[in-house]
Amino acid sequence: MSILVTGGAGYIGSHTCVELLNAGYDIIVLDNFCNSNKEVLKRIKTITNKDFGFYEADVRDKKALDEIFAKEKIEAVIHFAALKAVGESCQKPLEYYENNVSGTVTLCEAMRDAGCKKIVFSSSATVYGMDNKVPFKEDMPVGGTTNPYGTTKYFIERILADVQAADSEWSVTLLRYFNPIGAHSSGMIGENPNGIPNNLMPYVAQVAVGRLECLNVFGDDYDTPDGTGVRDYIHVVDLAIGHVLAVEKALKETGVNVYNLGTGIGYSVLDLVKAFEKASGVKINYKIAPRRDGDIAVCYADASKAKNELGWTAKKNLDDMCADTWRWQRNNPNGY
Ligand code: NAD
Ligand code: UFG
Repeated sequence: MSILVTGGAGYIGSHTCVELLNAGYDIIVLDNFCNSNKEVLKRIKTITNKDFGFYEADVRDKKALDEIFAKEKIEAVIHFAALKAVGESCQKPLEYYENNVSGTVTLCEAMRDAGCKKIVFSSSATVYGMDNKVPFKEDMPVGGTTNPYGTTKYFIERILADVQAADSEWSVTLLRYFNPIGAHSSGMIGENPNGIPNNLMPYVAQVAVGRLECLNVFGDDYDTPDGTGVRDYIHVVDLAIGHVLAVEKALKETGVNVYNLGTGIGYSVLDLVKAFEKASGVKINYKIAPRRDGDIAVCYADASKAKNELGWTAKKNLDDMCADTWRWQRNNPNGY
């Protein structure tokens, strides 16, 4: 029996494939490469010294999915495949709803038709919206998202919960990620954004390696210790291990489970810049710029539920995250 990993060639998916293979799972990767590179599959094989099945396919393609489910013995799906750029989602909302929401509906139809009813879904802390108080807990109200990307995550959470409510054989796990950064310690796989990065860590890493000139720090007048935005940065390998534990539980149970995956610690933009300078020995050129629309001041998790129910805690600290990102970026200055 295998775990199907949609979006398995992407940033978080590729690190999760490594941890699933290391834990002894058979996996099948499905990806359409709209935001990833085939080279990553070779590197996962090199890191783990293990082989796995792979399909170049789209989660919106029901016929392709039916063929895969007919051919392979799939007992659970980890569903990463999605578009994820917040700014782009405001320009292209229909593309985001179509890819993320319709893609998930089509995937679930294929799963239902094949009798495979266990899904672990990549959700996001963005579903907590603007109105909750930190630390964010799983039972807080969700919605109030500030962009179409975030709304796709909120809608998909609701759709998956409805699917489970209608058929109690389903096991639905909603993993709400905080801010994944870092890379595998081998330096062989990491985050490889197309174009100019939207997120802080890849932007900092590209300034360090000389691909970008200067970081814009979006606002220094927030109500935080140094005025810059505070986030719960989590090492992508810790996040990947969270998926292994979540799928292990999902294989034994039915129902809906929601977990925050974060460290519970908030760092500011300038904390991260300083930690990256220390890890890399490179001075990061930055300037203060206006606040970015839709940003909140502070976001960090209460991660105690994942600890109590999955036995999961984040092990790596900000220095590890910066050192591993730097190794990946230095070894692969232009990505894959
Ligand atoms: P990524 O873009 O690196 O990976 C997504 C993968 O899915 C890519 O390989 C892409 O080619 C593939 N894909 C997209 N649409 C597809 C489709 N229709 N059919 C098949 N493959 C498709 O992104 P990531 O950072 O690895 O994120 C993985 C998941 O985690 C996404 O669902 C994302 O929304 C969610 N998430 C990411 C973050 C973050 O900060 N990176 C935070 C919270 C949640
Ligand atoms: N920031 C800068 N300059 C930059 C980029 C970011 O100062 O060039 C700041 C932001 O203002 C924020 C912090 O760095 O204070 C982190 O910003 P990111 O863009 O890295 O991350 P976000 O918290 O905005 O969003 C991320 C993902 C979303 C996800 C959200 C919550 O991009 O997909 O975390 O999980 F929804």
